[in-house]
Amino acid sequence: MAHKDDLIAEDIIAYLDAQENKSLLRFITCGSVDDGKSTLIGRLLFESKLLFEDQLAALEADSKKVGTQGGDIDFALLVDGLAAEREQGITIDVAYRFFSTDRRKFIVADTPGHEQYTRNMATGASTAELAVLLVDARHGLLTQTRRHSFIVSMLGVRKLVVAINKMDLVDYSEDVFNQIVADYAEFAKVLEVDNIVCIPVSALKGDNVTEPGQQTPWYTGPTLLEHLETVPVGDRARENPFRMPVQWVNRPNLDFRGFSGQIAAGEIRPGDSVKSLPSGTESTVARVVTYDGDLDMAHAGQSVTVVLNDEIDVSRGDVLVAGNNPCGVADQFQATVLWMSDKPMMPSRPYVMKIGAREATVTPAQLKHKVNVNTLVKEPTKTLGLNEIGVCNISVDRGIAFDPYTESRATGGFVMIDRMTNNTVGLGLINFELRRASNIHWEAMDIDKAARAEAKQQKPVILWFTGLSGAGKSTIANIVEQRLHARGNHTTILDGDNVRHGLNRDLGFTEADRVENIRRVSEVSKLMVDAGLITLSCFISPFRSERKMARERVEDGEFVEVFVDTPIEVAEQRDAKGLYAKARAGEIKNFTGIDSPYEAPEAPEIHLQMNGESAEDAASVVIQWLEERGYIQ
Ligand code: ADX
Repeated sequence: MAHKDDLIAEDIIAYLDAQENKSLLRFITCGSVDDGKSTLIGRLLFESKLLFEDQLAALEADSKKVGTQGGDIDFALLVDGLAAEREQGITIDVAYRFFSTDRRKFIVADTPGHEQYTRNMATGASTAELAVLLVDARHGLLTQTRRHSFIVSMLGVRKLVVAINKMDLVDYSEDVFNQIVADYAEFAKVLEVDNIVCIPVSALKGDNVTEPGQQTPWYTGPTLLEHLETVPVGDRARENPFRMPVQWVNRPNLDFRGFSGQIAAGEIRPGDSVKSLPSGTESTVARVVTYDGDLDMAHAGQSVTVVLNDEIDVSRGDVLVAGNNPCGVADQFQATVLWMSDKPMMPSRPYVMKIGAREATVTPAQLKHKVNVNTLVKEPTKTLGLNEIGVCNISVDRGIAFDPYTESRATGGFVMIDRMTNNTVGLGLINFELRRASNIHWEAMDIDKAARAEAKQQKPVILWFTGLSGAGKSTIANIVEQRLHARGNHTTILDGDNVRHGLNRDLGFTEADRVENIRRVSEVSKLMVDAGLITLSCFISPFRSERKMARERVEDGEFVEVFVDTPIEVAEQRDAKGLYAKARAGEIKNFTGIDSPYEAPEAPEIHLQMNGESAEDAASVVIQWLEERGYIQ
């Protein structure tokens, strides 16, 4: 290994100790291929000399083969490691690289600069303390730099370096440099950052990267490396009050019970008072155990097992917090969401939320706005698309321990996961808690669902008819209701067309509106079940997510999915309302089955295959099903 620190060869233990005690700076670089970002990082890595020799040899060979620098070492090759990237000439993911100098260790997250890769940048920025923003001196301050600056500052990066690159191509002009500095200072007023340093560099020639530039005598500030080595690294997480999400309860035998996790913030010592949230029960720390034995003190970033002095109830997903400085617990928040999926975020649709070690269900409400990351203008929107950033209220299905993201990244940030695909689809930052809901109590009434059902001598249930427009949902439901009525059962019917004349008059047929449509009617259906009624709900309800949501609103057995499975050809031929013809003619947009999807149920309780069967026959199947399962007598 070619490191200037010869200690590594002579005394490996001393070397590792020295490494251990160096401070660590995590930073991110933002810019596009054309700005010379890869060249800059490559030079930093190369000149700090922590490279394996075989890697150097490979680099020299590669440079001769595919390099763009005519046989000289092409530093960009060091960073653009992937063959695919080399061919396309772009960088496509987040690459973390470790390097160190005599003064400090560094982890650099290198992320691509194209607009569609906002999510990669967000991933890298969420753990970085500093961001290096590359600006091409020839082009000055571009939209892209504004966008990157906004995103990194939103994600809590408080120190910025503006590396004004390619100074060699503007004759190392001080005026050009000063103009960009002034432009950036003007723009940066809107950012929440502590520290901005602008440096004129030539990544290609090496000026002011690790060595002062000979061509910029007018510049008296630090080189990039010098700045990176000396900028104060306060460990913000460590300075915050103690927080540790409990990953698991460690109970190997009856004599030992500890709570294991990684400390997200602060420090902990035996004797400290702690609280377990959300329950709020208190105790004191007996021991801080690690694999290598007990510690007198542990801090943010370390993984430990905490043993308490009292047998209090703590489970996986709870958060241990400083007894004298706990965080809040709430279930309603305002949050900023960065969306990372091609499938847009739908307000009213529930998602899995992971915050700390806790999993919960989160439902975003209508979006307040999205931020145009190029102009920073707030724009109205119904949904959030890939790489878009928006602000909305969210509700969680239980109280969760949290800090606002600006105070603590580890306890204020969360990810959103699609419940159907299990893909991570969003990154959320808690802005603040909403107190509204905490002042609304659930009134317990003396006459309950069971009493109402008893009086009606029936088991309340939602018969949820789903299927294409014209499938026959309402026709079948109508017959089922007539027969139930004739038997003396108490029923009600909710129908898509009818509900859209009143309660849902404000909704159309976009995906977002359909999600909200079903959210509202599932709430109404639930109220009807509470009233003890057999409720027939007839909605296309094309998305599995929302049918699942409707199912989860009520108790087991109270939601019966009835799939009216009519082939689209049959429904289209019937076309009682003439809507298919209009949709085919392009007069109606987002028509289910034509230019809007229908996700068929995977395991409906009742599957009505309508290949020539009559509505009467289908209704009989439903009635029989209810009889056999004791819903009706
Ligand atoms: S849902 O998709 O949101 O569940 P809902 O069942 O309420 O739909 O309403 C469907 C009814 O609205 C259809 O039966 C049809 O009469 C009418 N309709 C009007 N435009 C559309 C459309 N673009 N797609 C589907 N149905 C439409």
